[in-house]
Amino acid sequence: MEPGEKHSQQIRQVLLFFVFLGGSLVCSEPWRYSVAEELEIGSFIANVVKDSGLSVEDLVARGVRVIFDDYKPYLQLDQQSGNLLLNEQLDREALCHLTEPCILHFQVLLENPLQFFRAELWVKDINDHIPTFLDKHILLKISESTAPGTSFQMDSAQDLDVGKNGVQNYTLSPNPYFRLKVQDSDDGRKYPELLLDQSLDREKEPELKLKLTALDGGSPPRSGTTLVHILVLDINDNAPEFERPVYEVQVPENSPVDSLVVRVSATDLDAGIYGEVSYSFSHVSTDIRKTFEIHPISGEIHLKALLDFELIQSYTINIQATDGGSLSGKSAILVQVVDVNDNPPEILMTSLTSPIPENSSPEMVVAVFSLRDQDAGNNGRMVCSIQDDLPFLLRPTFKNFYTLVTNGALDRESQAEYNITITVSDLGTPRLKTQHNITVTVSDVNDNAPAFSQTTYTLRVRENNSPALHIGTVSATDRDAGANAQVTYSLLRPRDPHLPLASLVSINADNGQLFALRSLDYEALQAFEVRVGAADRGSPALSSQALVRVLVLDDNDNAPFVLYPLQNGSAPCTELVPRAAEAGYLVTKVVAVDGDSGQNAWLSFQLLKATEPGLFGVWAHNGEVRTARLLSERDAVRHRLLVLVKDNGEPPLSASVTLHVLLVDGFSQPYLPLPDVAAAEARADPLTVYLVIALASVSSLFLCSALAFVAVRLCRRSGAASGGGCAVPEGHFPGHLVDVSGAGTLSQSYQYEVCLTGGSGTSEFKFLKPAFPNLPPQ
Ligand SMILES: *[C@@H]1O[C@H](CO)[C@@H](O)[C@H](O)[C@H]1NC(C)=O
Ligand SMILES: *[C@@H]1O[C@H](CO)[C@@H](O)[C@H](O)[C@H]1NC(C)=O
Ligand SMILES: *[C@@H]1O[C@H](CO)[C@@H](O)[C@H](O)[C@H]1NC(C)=O
Repeated sequence: MEPGEKHSQQIRQVLLFFVFLGGSLVCSEPWRYSVAEELEIGSFIANVVKDSGLSVEDLVARGVRVIFDDYKPYLQLDQQSGNLLLNEQLDREALCHLTEPCILHFQVLLENPLQFFRAELWVKDINDHIPTFLDKHILLKISESTAPGTSFQMDSAQDLDVGKNGVQNYTLSPNPYFRLKVQDSDDGRKYPELLLDQSLDREKEPELKLKLTALDGGSPPRSGTTLVHILVLDINDNAPEFERPVYEVQVPENSPVDSLVVRVSATDLDAGIYGEVSYSFSHVSTDIRKTFEIHPISGEIHLKALLDFELIQSYTINIQATDGGSLSGKSAILVQVVDVNDNPPEILMTSLTSPIPENSSPEMVVAVFSLRDQDAGNNGRMVCSIQDDLPFLLRPTFKNFYTLVTNGALDRESQAEYNITITVSDLGTPRLKTQHNITVTVSDVNDNAPAFSQTTYTLRVRENNSPALHIGTVSATDRDAGANAQVTYSLLRPRDPHLPLASLVSINADNGQLFALRSLDYEALQAFEVRVGAADRGSPALSSQALVRVLVLDDNDNAPFVLYPLQNGSAPCTELVPRAAEAGYLVTKVVAVDGDSGQNAWLSFQLLKATEPGLFGVWAHNGEVRTARLLSERDAVRHRLLVLVKDNGEPPLSASVTLHVLLVDGFSQPYLPLPDVAAAEARADPLTVYLVIALASVSSLFLCSALAFVAVRLCRRSGAASGGGCAVPEGHFPGHLVDVSGAGTLSQSYQYEVCLTGGSGTSEFKFLKPAFPNLPPQ
């Protein structure tokens, strides 16, 4: 019992005692009034006049008073109306606390005469208080292992109101775990209990915040709330779990040691040590242990050794994560080693044929080789090539085998060696390339004949050479090699079988030097041609030939020879000159020839000595002897003239001739009729014409004709004058005349002999042994 309650009971006991003292003065039934608490001051409660049956005047006269048991003036009596009015606001909870009904007893006392009226003021509860939890925040720790059905008792809420204005019901914010059970306590109050409906899962919901509401029964009901904070306590009910069942990673094979492969991660929903995870390999091979390492805390997997795609392309690594309670989870890492283009292509030569003979048939296999690249995919795909400017082709054959074949016949003479670079590159990034150099040599076949440096060689030498003189060299080269290029020289049979070549020249078989075998005589042979051959030593041998034309150069080795007048005869020619001849009378003409040619045969004439100087003159160029002045009776009859004939050689050679002249009276004899040959020319000035022709050596034929003619004519004249005393020596005309045509080629050569005969009176001449068969004798 509350202290206040005790106090009011004491008051009540005093009042009761007081009431029993004057028992006869007290009405048996108390008046009963009721009032709601918290009503405003002055509110009307009751009218005493009506309940007592007394008038207002009586009441006032009899000294009416209102006395509550606790002497507190809750009510006041209006003296005029007898109304009981509320003197103060009444708080039921303060007056009665939980006692119900809350009755304030009082007496209406009339003093004179003394009379008591008992009265009760029933103070009615109004819902002026809200249910209130003592703790606004309730912490509840519940293990997640707690079984459903377990209940948790909560403190009840307080409501100062009573009756149905007190706490009537509790509600809980909706949640999946707890429901509320409202229990009645022994003292009739209600208290709430949380009933676990479904297992807690810390990992799902580590804490719950529930609103517990207490409701009173007022109208409207009032409520108060508290927050129930439920912490779910952990148990090791979760194994670590990896984020992924399988980790797939690709690692380039050239990744350095220590590089990160992957970082794995497992989570454990549990807390604390139960949630602490450590990583490790699980049932892995030594290969993996050698290659990878796992960090127990971070879950990082690093390379411990280098990878090699060509050895192992993938690894499957089983891993586990273990928590502090020895629960574990599993996963696997699938490591794909990614090929990096780290292997250059390889070339493996299987066979190489070198040297290969030139002129071999096309598509001849020179080399066989195979390619290999240990990388995969494009890194291992290859393209193969050689230089494009080579007469070779690459032919792909079986698998990775290639053949190198010739593309057309080879010619050793244009290229004897080929450096072939076989280039293989793969298609990786970056491209790797390998080169292999092979040298193919081409062996010789005797397919080239020796070739002379000139088709025709013209050699000049001077006549009268010493025997075995080196007169020149021919040279032939052979583009082949070795014995196929070894050249030997030889003289070939002459076209003219009569030419005694073998006795003229010889050739050095090794070096092509030509030698004159004997002393050459220009006057006998002005030029000749030899054919030389060059042959190689191939099998079969090839050969070629060239023409060597040897021109013999003239030497001044012949002195002029006087044809007329003849010198050695027993009867020398005598020229007759009439004393009446005018100055410039042609006495005679000295005719001479020179076996040499050119300058060496260019003759000049000179009067060396005369019986009577100044009477005759000799023309230097044509040998004409003419009178220099008129003759007189005083001039001697006989004259001797010495004429020198000199050639133009170096040194010059000369001959002299003695002329005999006889001065006669009268005119000269008329000439004999001319022979019909060349009569017209003779009339003009036959001597000069023919001598010029002779000197020019235009043609030996003309020369010989002219000489013969001149000789014959002069002799006839002289013979007629002296009565046939002209003596012509018999014998061969000195020297041979050989024609060299302007073109320089050897044409016909011929010789003639001429004989002048005298003393027969008919003065005949004739050709002996014409050497050119086609020429009719004249
Ligand atoms: C308490 O409140 C709940 C929910 O509002 C209701 O279902 C239940 O009937 C109430 N209990 C009483 C005794 O009024
Ligand atoms: C081939 O290579 C060799 C060596 O490098 C070199 O001496 C030779 O001249 C080359 N031949 C050709 C035809 O390039
Ligand atoms: C192959 O020959 C080429 C061209 O002569 C040269 O550049 C290269 O270095 C050579 N390669 C080898 C591997 O000898």
